[in-house]
Amino acid sequence: MAFVERVFSGVQPTGNLHLGNYLGAIVNFVKLQETHNCIYCVVDMHAITQGVDVWGGPAELARNTREVTAAFIASGIDPKKHIVFNQSQVAGHAELAWIFNCVARIGWLNRMTQFKEKAGKDRENASVGLYDYPVLMAADILLYRATHVPVGEDQKQHLELSRDIAQKFNNDFGDSIRGHGIADGLFFPLPEPLITGPATRVMSLRDGTKKMSKSEPSDNSRINLTDDADTIAQKIRKAKTDPEPLPSEEKGLETRPEADNLVGIYAALAGIGKQEVLKEFGGGQFSNFKNALVDVCIAKLSPIAAEMKRLVADPGHVDQILVDGANRARTIADETMRAAKDVVGFIRQR
Ligand code: TYM
Repeated sequence: MAFVERVFSGVQPTGNLHLGNYLGAIVNFVKLQETHNCIYCVVDMHAITQGVDVWGGPAELARNTREVTAAFIASGIDPKKHIVFNQSQVAGHAELAWIFNCVARIGWLNRMTQFKEKAGKDRENASVGLYDYPVLMAADILLYRATHVPVGEDQKQHLELSRDIAQKFNNDFGDSIRGHGIADGLFFPLPEPLITGPATRVMSLRDGTKKMSKSEPSDNSRINLTDDADTIAQKIRKAKTDPEPLPSEEKGLETRPEADNLVGIYAALAGIGKQEVLKEFGGGQFSNFKNALVDVCIAKLSPIAAEMKRLVADPGHVDQILVDGANRARTIADETMRAAKDVVGFIRQR
């Protein structure tokens, strides 16, 4: 089957949306609107895979769902031209995930590093949902037969699993797929990860070897999209660095994770390459560079924070965007599910 190019990606409503989410994912979501039909999903079903103490309970989940939606829109995603919705409103995600549960192999899931990290030492006590998380993610993407998936580097392994699931489904049901008129036997595309830009892995401001993350206890480790200008300035000034001046060549960043991270953040925010940043700041003191970084960070993030604040103050409006997006998503999803059920052999009303 010739697949129309389509973009899908998701963000979990688990609080503390940060600069890593913005630069690693959302900035690219915005760009792709110019060239593709895009579907951006607030993955509330993924958000409940850890303990309720982690995701915060029903009121917090609803609040965070609206906040991620607001971040999408404040960053420049157009919910009229493209689709923005929350996952739980489209039943096909869970339905297709069940079919994929029977395609994916336990051995594949056992290799997932994110599960190992999130489950920690007490694996017996992790939820089945956390273990199954990547299968639901494959269902998210393939329910829309999406061909391209913009994500940060930490999602690469999950994307490979999505491709494996798509391929095994196409193989396992090949005869049935051809029997239903898809001559090349390709029911699902093999989705391609789009991991692009100078900040595909933004690191903690306190430790350049650790990823910037929503769950890190120290708030100083990350810049949140809702931080005000003073907080941003303080966090950047406190960010860990080393005693050397910045190098003039990118090679000089290789053994300096904190410097590399800050240069990458600047490059991504300014929309230039790391080499260009070093051309301007190489050889100079960190303090000067940090001042410039504070400026560019505030210039980019402050308008987004202000617009997010405005949007979340009107939850009815945000919810309407999600309902409208879900209605349009469901039309595509239902078509895939009808065809998938026929291919599997599930009887349905015609
Ligand atoms: P989540 O909510 O953890 O992260 C959302 C996006 O932000 C990226 N990201 C980062 N990028 C650069 N540096 C960082 N420090 C950083 N931290 C997070 C993530 O790579 C992601 O792109 N599993 C997904 C959600 C999901 C999904 C999907 C994504 C569910 N279904 C289908 C794509 C397609 C996740 O954990 O997102």
